[in-house]
Amino acid sequence: MKVLVATEKPFAKVAVDGIRKVIEGAGYELVLLEKYTDKAQLLEAAKDANAIIIRSDIIDAEVFDAAKELKIVVRAGAGYDNVDLAAATAHNVCVMNTPGQNSNAVAELALGMMVLAVRNFFNGTSGTELKGKKLGIHAYGNVGRNVARIAKGFGMEIYAYDAFCPKEVIEKDGVKPLNSVEELYKTCNVISLHIPATPETKGSINYALLKDTPKGTVLVNTARKEVINEDELIKLMDERQDFKYLSDIMPAAHSKLRELFPDRYFSTPKKMGAQTAEANINAGIAAAEQIVGYLRDGVDKFKVN
Ligand code: 3PG
Repeated sequence: MKVLVATEKPFAKVAVDGIRKVIEGAGYELVLLEKYTDKAQLLEAAKDANAIIIRSDIIDAEVFDAAKELKIVVRAGAGYDNVDLAAATAHNVCVMNTPGQNSNAVAELALGMMVLAVRNFFNGTSGTELKGKKLGIHAYGNVGRNVARIAKGFGMEIYAYDAFCPKEVIEKDGVKPLNSVEELYKTCNVISLHIPATPETKGSINYALLKDTPKGTVLVNTARKEVINEDELIKLMDERQDFKYLSDIMPAAHSKLRELFPDRYFSTPKKMGAQTAEANINAGIAAAEQIVGYLRDGVDKFKVN
């Protein structure tokens, strides 16, 4: 069995060592395709792979067509919007993610971005503190929960809205559940986005929602760029000199945002949320173990298609 690790943004070396141990320990072969720049390289490497471990790498119908021996793809991470699930199913390929494995890393980055925003991007001027501020967690999944846990240490007042998570689960963590997304955006001065990119959520963070945020609101996006209606965000930031936007996923309108709002906008050059040794080890090794479990014993616990 051949297991391909195809990562345009590679894992830390220590994580690759851990993946190799699991894969070779099961008697399989590990092949690495790191920092590739061309889809043709992925298509070539995938040709005879039985399993593929990816991160945000795009696995579309063309890849499934090329990968004739493929049985399983594991997205080492949470969001699997980069995988064409219908094409996977049509090719009889199992797709899994590794939920929770990198969520602390993403949550720590979200809090770091909040500090960066309220301290005016460390420009030497007097900022504000997070203590006592109202934090709104938009979607209370693995990352949202970790954000709540860390934000408690900062002394923030924590609110959450999640269309699917029962209110009791949110309340148990000492977080106040709100009834609607509108209520969350009206209530909170710091908003942390943790919704996945789905047909329903794409473009859903729009002018209508953002216009009612309190004065001085900071919006932190460590989720997906697609959930933001960028034209409407620009309109809002144009009208609201007090509004800041920080993103861990470079917006399509990055240059425009940087030019228009140099003091109120920030984006990482490459998604950094899960870029820690710990997250790479956790997600990478979980992916390797899930592949062995599936190929050897048919375990499909984290199957998403
Ligand atoms: C995820 O969905 O797990 C995060 O967005 C991390 O993505 P990455 O593995 O591409 O850094």
